[in-house]
Amino acid sequence: MENIKAGIIGCGRISSVYRAAFENMKEEAELVFAVDKDLSRAEQLAAAFPGCGYSDRLEDLLRQPLSVVHVLTPHFLHKKHVIACLEAGFHVLTEKPIALSLEDADLMIAAAKKNKRQLGVIFQNRYIEGVQEVKRMIENGEFGRITGAFSTLNWWRPPSYYECDWKGSWEKEGGGVVIDQAIHSLDLVRYLMGCEPVKVKGHIDRRILTNIEVEDVADAAITFENGAVYSFFACNYYTSNSPIRVEISGEHGTALLTENEVVIRLKGREPRTVSPSVGPEVKGEAYWGNYHEVQIRDFYRCLREGTPVQTDPEDAKRTLGLVLDIYRSSKENREIERKYSAEE
Ligand SMILES: NC(=O)c1ccc[n+]([C@@H]2O[C@H](COP(=O)([O-])OP(=O)(O)OC[C@H]3O[C@@H](n4cnc5c(N)ncnc54)[C@H](O)[C@@H]3O)[C@@H](O)[C@H]2O)c1
Repeated sequence: MENIKAGIIGCGRISSVYRAAFENMKEEAELVFAVDKDLSRAEQLAAAFPGCGYSDRLEDLLRQPLSVVHVLTPHFLHKKHVIACLEAGFHVLTEKPIALSLEDADLMIAAAKKNKRQLGVIFQNRYIEGVQEVKRMIENGEFGRITGAFSTLNWWRPPSYYECDWKGSWEKEGGGVVIDQAIHSLDLVRYLMGCEPVKVKGHIDRRILTNIEVEDVADAAITFENGAVYSFFACNYYTSNSPIRVEISGEHGTALLTENEVVIRLKGREPRTVSPSVGPEVKGEAYWGNYHEVQIRDFYRCLREGTPVQTDPEDAKRTLGLVLDIYRSSKENREIERKYSAEE
């Protein structure tokens, strides 16, 4: 079968992970065009792939004979870049978050439907082997009724991290530690829970990182449709990037994810550890994990087989909804009740 011809918009920090993925996926995909408003960044990425074109103009990419575009631009540009690529007839796999508002996510979903193209959103941690195993076990009922969950993220983002033209801004990043870093934990718990949050009481604050306007800490109690209560905590002012922890608790036991490893403890059984098979060498920052390539390959598989993509935009929109509920709850100092309906 012919190789997938792919393009990238946004050749900043995360593009190193895509570069490594394309170097490993030569048998099925080819990076043929790169765009960045900073031409030297596009040129640098393109230089790693013989024949790969580059430009600082989106229009140049839209004219290429591509089948897929990866959108790796700042959050506020996802809507514009995703819709332009869908309208040009490309399938799109965009970085998280899908957008900055549910209304923008709806416009992107409508563009995908109108142009009959697939739109996927990166949530690479869903592909961790232990997460897949726990998902399967929850669906099989091995944990019994799910009663609760927690996630903690204690990371460090130095002031220099925010010294760019979009990070740390409500308008362009759309928030701080919740929408950018801890969105992965929120998405994982939603994914594993297998049902939607119905009540959110959250609080955000800026305590240590005074050079930004968005939050550097957040916590929330999130109640799901099944009655389980999820305790959420995240901050960007710890001394280092401590491994993320996510635990799911059921009637028959618990599953604790620490970074990429999951320990499953079921009553009456020996604890079992599901270790990652990807790595341990890391292609970018260690805290990004190694699962982008796994998700990209899965996206391409769905395109080839004509099956729906795994992390579809409706799903990603619901995780965004949870992020926005935490912000709204904090701003209005009240519990937010949310009922997701099929047409939402
Ligand atoms: N999945 C993950 O674990 C993970 C990790 C890091 C970043 N990300 C996501 O990747 C995306 C990019 O983050 P980053 O850290 O690489 O940011 P970055 O600022 O390092 O890179 C963004 C790039 O986009 C370019 N750009 C800005 N405006 C543009 C425009 N109009 N046209 C073309 N290029 C433009 C910038 O010049 C820059 O090179 C974000 O959505 C972020 O949340 C995801």
